[in-house]
Amino acid sequence: MSANDPQPGKPTDLHDSAFLRACRREAVPHTPVWFMRQAGRSLPEYRKVREGIAMLDSCMRPDLVTEITLQPVRRHGVDAAIYFSDIVVPLKAIGIDLDIKPGVGPVVEEPVRTRADLDRLRPLEPDDVGYVTEAVRLLTAELGATPLIGFAGAPFTLASYLVEGGPSRNHERTKALMYGDPELWAALLDRLAVITSTFLKVQIEAGASAVQLFDSWAGALSEADYRLSVMPASEKVFASVAHYGVPRIHFGVGTGELLGAMGEAGADVVGADWRVPLGEAARRVGPGKAVQGNLDPAVLFAPREAVEVQARRVLDDARGLEGHIFNLGHGVLPETDPDALTRLVGYVHEQTAGS
Ligand code: CP3
Repeated sequence: MSANDPQPGKPTDLHDSAFLRACRREAVPHTPVWFMRQAGRSLPEYRKVREGIAMLDSCMRPDLVTEITLQPVRRHGVDAAIYFSDIVVPLKAIGIDLDIKPGVGPVVEEPVRTRADLDRLRPLEPDDVGYVTEAVRLLTAELGATPLIGFAGAPFTLASYLVEGGPSRNHERTKALMYGDPELWAALLDRLAVITSTFLKVQIEAGASAVQLFDSWAGALSEADYRLSVMPASEKVFASVAHYGVPRIHFGVGTGELLGAMGEAGADVVGADWRVPLGEAARRVGPGKAVQGNLDPAVLFAPREAVEVQARRVLDDARGLEGHIFNLGHGVLPETDPDALTRLVGYVHEQTAGS
């Protein structure tokens, strides 16, 4: 068998990969699996290549991005790769003074809080992120029939980092702006929608097979406030990439009450965390969309048998749904045993083979 021969059980054609078929709600050879934050600190090979290189610097080096993105694909045999970057990369690329502090997250030197501050949020030009185009091209050449998922942060989640100046538990300054100056808020989210749209377009045009919009912190909002003050900007992002025909995934944490709206915003696939069983999540999302999720990432710290019981429960919850992509309900936790992730991929594949 030469290196180019198809591996047994692996799709030979990208379009027919289990992941893309599930996104389109077509029959699959097995339930596809990938993990949010599958690249990163849980992997010793990641820690090794990142030694002495700051997070944001690593995101600007196509050689490193390619290696780090491929690491979990090689190790775990997941059904999709996710482009290694961060949601704040496009903001850095337009000149916002920010850094990712280890163990903390993105920290913005001068928060965005006034109308004058908006001027710093100029549109992103594809040339600002030429390293993304280059890395996506390198990656798609290496990945062959394994799909590459591009991603971006949604306007609300980006706004939270910009307005708060860093990670926030309660998003109080963000909400103060949203309720206190709806016009400035709408202008801020609109600028972020433009930046996010370009960042996704760059990845799709370079060869990404799907995109995920991370609205990680949208679960902090009521459905009414989400629909009024956030959804229009996310809708604009999804509409701007609709013509490419690549699946669009929408995800947030604690968004049980928002699942219907997040689907309506223009997603083909809606991600749910572990708080809502997948069958119920699919009911809330409504017909015509696939669902992604939703094993609690903390479950991976339990013994193997317990992980399998919980993974089985996720599969049972998803039984009969038209399109399920297995994932965690949020990102892989840094202390996770990578072998537990590899075993989980094998378990889901084996349990769903021929289903
Ligand atoms: O494998 C993948 O999923 C791709 C890589 C990826 C990263 N960030 C790399 C990263 C993705 C998809 C993200 C998205 C991201 N970044 C989100 C949305 C997803 C989510 O988790 O809800 C958010 C909210 C951020 C902002 C951010 N960046 C946080 C909260 C942190 C963690 C801070 C910490 O150190 O605990 C980061 C840093 C970051 N982004 C790391 C990685 C691998 C860790 C930094 C490092 O390795 O030095």
